[in-house]
Amino acid sequence: MSILVVYYSRTGSTARQAETLARRLNADCDEISAGTAYDGPVGLLNAAVSAALDAQGPAMTKRYVRAYDHLIVGGPVWAGQLPGPLRRYLIYNDPKTRLVGAFCTSWHGGPQRAFFNEIRQLVGISTFPNFSIEQRHCEADLIPLAAARFARALSTSLSHVA
Ligand SMILES: Cc1cc2nc3c(=O)[nH]c(=O)nc-3n(C[C@H](O)[C@H](O)[C@H](O)COP(=O)(O)O)c2cc1C
Repeated sequence: MSILVVYYSRTGSTARQAETLARRLNADCDEISAGTAYDGPVGLLNAAVSAALDAQGPAMTKRYVRAYDHLIVGGPVWAGQLPGPLRRYLIYNDPKTRLVGAFCTSWHGGPQRAFFNEIRQLVGISTFPNFSIEQRHCEADLIPLAAARFARALSTSLSHVA
């Protein structure tokens, strides 16, 4: 059984959490490349102004999702929603049969319903395990309680289908 954790991260917090989670799940991990559109101060402005509208064009990863049995996706919350690069990744890779979980990082934590609802809508899955954590908890090698629960739940549910 192979698992790929795919994430978008503008400033590295989601990346740290994705890598920690991947290690816990013995999964591969790969970053969505957004080009330069959201890098640096100008990129921040772009993200703030147009993130919700970013749905055009492919979003690339080095690893190919179809080579894996299962996919977990993660990203930062932008204006309560998906960051554009993660939205584009989901649209262009159509991972309905592989998606088994998702997570987000944000300033405020909380349930982040709009973020996960958008994934449900884009992928066409009504429910999947998920967790949301605050940015300040995305420290290297730390797995917060919510993420640990998610990893345990996922390991149990996937061991039934392996
Ligand atoms: C354009 C933009 C919009 C954001 N909107 C929200 C928001 O609505 N709610 C929230 O709690 N955090 C929000 N944040 C904070 C990010 O979700 C948070 O800093 C995240 O952990 C950054 O992850 P990264 O380092 O992987 O890019 C926003 C950040 C940016 C750049």
